[in-house]
Amino acid sequence: MTKSLLSVLKGDRQPTPPIWMMRQAGRYLPEYRALRAEAGSFLNLCFNPEKAAEVTLQPIRRFGFDGAILFSDILVVPHALGQRVTFEAGEGPRLDPVADREALKRLSDDLDGTIVEPVYETVRQVKAGLPQDVTLLGFCGAPWTVATYMIAGRGGEDQMAARLFAYRDPAGFALLIDRLVEASISYLVGQIRAGADAVQIFDTWAGILPASEFARWSVEPTARIVAGVKRAVPGVPVIVFPKGASFRLKLTVDGTQADAVGLDWTADADFVRREIQPKVAVQGNIDPLVLLAGGDALEQAVDQALSDYAGGRYVFNLGHGILPPTPIAHVEQMIARVRAWRS
Ligand code: CP3
Repeated sequence: MTKSLLSVLKGDRQPTPPIWMMRQAGRYLPEYRALRAEAGSFLNLCFNPEKAAEVTLQPIRRFGFDGAILFSDILVVPHALGQRVTFEAGEGPRLDPVADREALKRLSDDLDGTIVEPVYETVRQVKAGLPQDVTLLGFCGAPWTVATYMIAGRGGEDQMAARLFAYRDPAGFALLIDRLVEASISYLVGQIRAGADAVQIFDTWAGILPASEFARWSVEPTARIVAGVKRAVPGVPVIVFPKGASFRLKLTVDGTQADAVGLDWTADADFVRREIQPKVAVQGNIDPLVLLAGGDALEQAVDQALSDYAGGRYVFNLGHGILPPTPIAHVEQMIARVRAWRS
């Protein structure tokens, strides 16, 4: 059986593009909310292989997506480097900020196996329960994005703490980035060896950087991860998602040598078709708010994305994660429209 998502990531075009959604296992699903309530905290759910595998499979059973993404979080990496992470209900992540070089020194060199092993076990269990034509995606955060949470201890405020740290002490910041590059390679290779078919690197905060910092802190470290993963596991596809940086996609594509690039909803379709899609597969880019809105606006956005991109190598997705209040009927409407498409 062919995995249509994997085949697109490896360079084919499909007449009907494969589809999955970022955050497809999550709070918009009643079955997720039930299991989440049972697990207690969000991280308990991430580190419980049976429950995390079940949550990963829920959207596959309900919607028949072509891709399943490991249920976990990008902040598992700092957690496994010794910077304890907690999630406050409704408030997002909290970490003890890495404020200076002393705090940097306290991080471990290697990932704590007792923390990452349950994640690899989740991958094995998902693999065992997944239909053969569904592609299993592993993931990590890009070093820049993960560093912004490590330094500020939380999200928000345009990631100012990390930007300031990088300007004041670029050499110190580079030490943190280097640590994250090595940890991310090891983490992704662990997921692939456990059964992930491909991996995605989430650079959610890439778009906030000026050009030179973008090259230095987003593209270059991500390129080292792509190279390191491919050295360890030749041929495994890597998707890079530099959110908010659709105007710098050429730098990401040429600089990282990824196989596919994620588009957010601000991408310019003519530019992407001309300059990006001939080189790599593209993935995206429905605005999560139009999926929340539904109706004619959703139908038009889906048709537009299909006519913009389905003529080339294309994975249908959102431009960022699905929002918790999104009605399930809107997801069904979107999938039906994509599946009816032939080009
Ligand atoms: O896409 C998927 O379904 C796979 C699982 C996944 C989660 N987070 C689950 C999650 C993935 C790939 C992520 C990535 C992630 N996590 C990113 C990068 C991509 C993005 O969405 O921007 C970032 C920045 C994080 C850090 C993070 N995790 C934040 C800021 C928050 C709080 C905000 C929020 O949406 O609640 C989380 C929590 C989180 N990660 C939830 C889920 C399902 C919600 C937790 C809950 O159930 O209470």
